[in-house]
Amino acid sequence: MIGNDLDSAPSAQNAELERRLNRLTLEEKVQLLTGRDFWTTWPLERIGLRRILVSDGPSGVRGEAWDERSPSLNLPSATALSASWDITIADRYGAASAREARRKNVDVVLGPTINLHRSPLGGRHFEAFSEDPILTAELAAAYVVGVQRNGVGATPKHYVANDFETDRFTADVQVDERTLREVYLRAFEKAIVEAQAWLVMSAYNSVNGATMTENELLETPLKSEWGFDGVVISDWTAVRSIASAEHPQDLVMPGPDGPWGEALVAAVRAGAIPEAVVDRKVLRILRLAARVGALDGVEQVSSTPVDLEDDVAFAREAAAEGTVLARNDGILPLEPSGIRSVAVIGHNARDARTQGGGSATVLPEKVVSPLAGIREAFPEADVSYSIGAVVQEGVVELPLDTMTNPTTGEPGARVRFLDAEGGEMFVEDRRASALVYFGGEAPVADAALFEFTTRYTPAENGTILLGFAGVGEGRVLVDGEAIVDVKAEPVGSDLGAAFLTPPSNSAPVEVTAATPIDIRFELRPLHLAGMGNAMSVTIGTEQDTSEPSALIAEAAAAARAADVAVLVVGTNSRVESEGYDRSSLALPGRQDELVEAVLAANPRTIVIVNSGAPVELPWRDRTAALLLSWFGGQEYGHALADVLTGVREAGGRLPTTWPKRLEDAPVSSTTPIEGVVRYEEGVHIGYRAWLKAGIEPAFPFGFGLGYTTWSLGSPEVRAHDTGWTVEVPVANTGQRAGKHVVQVYAERPDSTVDRPVRWLVGFAAVRAAAGTEQVIRATIPRRALEHWDGGWTLEPGEYVLRIGTSVADLPETVTVCVP
Ligand code: BGC
Repeated sequence: MIGNDLDSAPSAQNAELERRLNRLTLEEKVQLLTGRDFWTTWPLERIGLRRILVSDGPSGVRGEAWDERSPSLNLPSATALSASWDITIADRYGAASAREARRKNVDVVLGPTINLHRSPLGGRHFEAFSEDPILTAELAAAYVVGVQRNGVGATPKHYVANDFETDRFTADVQVDERTLREVYLRAFEKAIVEAQAWLVMSAYNSVNGATMTENELLETPLKSEWGFDGVVISDWTAVRSIASAEHPQDLVMPGPDGPWGEALVAAVRAGAIPEAVVDRKVLRILRLAARVGALDGVEQVSSTPVDLEDDVAFAREAAAEGTVLARNDGILPLEPSGIRSVAVIGHNARDARTQGGGSATVLPEKVVSPLAGIREAFPEADVSYSIGAVVQEGVVELPLDTMTNPTTGEPGARVRFLDAEGGEMFVEDRRASALVYFGGEAPVADAALFEFTTRYTPAENGTILLGFAGVGEGRVLVDGEAIVDVKAEPVGSDLGAAFLTPPSNSAPVEVTAATPIDIRFELRPLHLAGMGNAMSVTIGTEQDTSEPSALIAEAAAAARAADVAVLVVGTNSRVESEGYDRSSLALPGRQDELVEAVLAANPRTIVIVNSGAPVELPWRDRTAALLLSWFGGQEYGHALADVLTGVREAGGRLPTTWPKRLEDAPVSSTTPIEGVVRYEEGVHIGYRAWLKAGIEPAFPFGFGLGYTTWSLGSPEVRAHDTGWTVEVPVANTGQRAGKHVVQVYAERPDSTVDRPVRWLVGFAAVRAAAGTEQVIRATIPRRALEHWDGGWTLEPGEYVLRIGTSVADLPETVTVCVP
């Protein structure tokens, strides 16, 4: 099963690694193959090996603790990155992640996520790049290079076909070999063969009957054909058997418990598993250690980050680069000096989603909301705010500036873990009321009671809904009186989701502005089997949803009174997160009604969509302008303001087709049937399926507008050893500098194989000043025209390359002839 000899290839470094390996006992070797805890591997000082710290990823690096006291850069979601269609942005995004990792002593980033957007219902769609394998591959490779150039390991994940969340631990994906090779493995191939990723994460799901930690795909193509010399790290808890040890699965996470340990030592002693199998895995972990500088005396790739740039400025630039202008009747860009009043509307305008939920979550120090960004960009204007419709569900945390720690008097709260006798086991002062314990020192598993106390000072008079989100027996007391007292059970069967998206309970409390109340929260945690020392709890307030029509009317009145309305609609953490898929593409709550009312009140309405994935926008053609802005990261508000005022152009093009209605989407269910998900559409995923069905989407793949105009000249194509280069003169014919993304698609109408009507084979982003012309070069790798037929095959004959600005707008043509 484990066939290649790469691990024993003669090289000075391999010889040194082998020397260290030979000093280890079998017990020590096996110990190294399972994590020490949630995020680290075992140190073995005897051979100069320190621990290796891994961290999520992929849009920022959380670090060892899930803790607001150690904040992280929150980059725009992967969908925003892929919308840039720009490998230099992807490289810088990787470099920014590496800088964050180095700052936090992290050796390995658990990203990029390079599963595909097979269906818009995929719960973690925001975390992956695209529906297209080539676009994903190019960006993934650039991300990996950007990370690793700076001395940190990258981990393309989840290998492979983890393109949905429903029953992700057990679902079996049935997919033919050609589709796997051409579509789902394509980005992994590029990230490993070309970008040389140091790790790969094996997925939870099965493919063609075998769970991925025991799947032949770990050997072929990964190790044998692609020559992968790094570490196959499991997704968390994905290794379930001793049998997996016989496969090229190298590292079991998390630890310290797991199915290998003593059972593996015994299996080796009994001769059931050769020790050489264990040795190969250990060597790979030592090689990773050498690469990240965790092995004394063996040089790491780079000891300091080589790329330096202002991370916050980059987050702002990247968000604008990924924002897609989907419609503009000429209202944009706005001239701030000509605008007296702006009505900012929408729950997400104030409480924006800057990242998706689940394991990818990072804790930014500061987030700029769209409302704050617009207020800053229009200093002379009267900027009003109305919520319009409630979007965010459940209890959200209390703002830091409303909380006082009763013990220290500082902003924040005091947290205590108590034993059954009421003895204090652990105390900490926190600066947030949303707390996740996932690794770290707190004795979550052993404590009988968790206690959180703060003095809360409301900003306004009124009734608030105060409560908590968490599982267990919870009591919320206000000035000593219990207002909530419930036993909250976990929801759903996915452990991760039950943990990170627990149910909310709240009760009304009358408050007076500037008059503090004492809040005490007590929780007898319900320890979920398999969650070990992990717990998540939020103490805070819920939105009042009792009068939706009044909220809409208020927002419409504000829009009517203003020169321009900026309405931010979007999804919430219940819609887009980890551990479950979406059930609908409709905007949650009463947002469609809200948009209709605001459009009727003021035709000068700009709608901004804040979602990580496509949503239905039935009113899209009646907006003055429409921006699809994904989860924009911590500088989201600044980036939007830059685009609205024209300081920057919206640089994005759609990395995924946006359907008019879910029913039109090629794959409109992600629920396994009897445990099986059949990838029946084969290679026809995403826009390829739309083309085949002849249905028109709301916005096609590759589409996005700018603030200037362009013309394309006649393309020329040149063949070389590894593929072709297409050169196209591009002229900026407008009045402003701008960005253009030139896309090249192939067609093969008379093919002997079942091909897509057309498929992306290359692209290039270009920036040019007004009135200037450039020749852009797009590289078409040979692989882009090849198909899989038991091996890679290039069908002889003519391929038509069509060149333009989206899959649906391809005015230029050039032909390639394969002899
Ligand atoms: C996710 C991975 C993640 C891991 C560690 C898993 O549930 O699927 O993407 O890296 O947890 O948090």
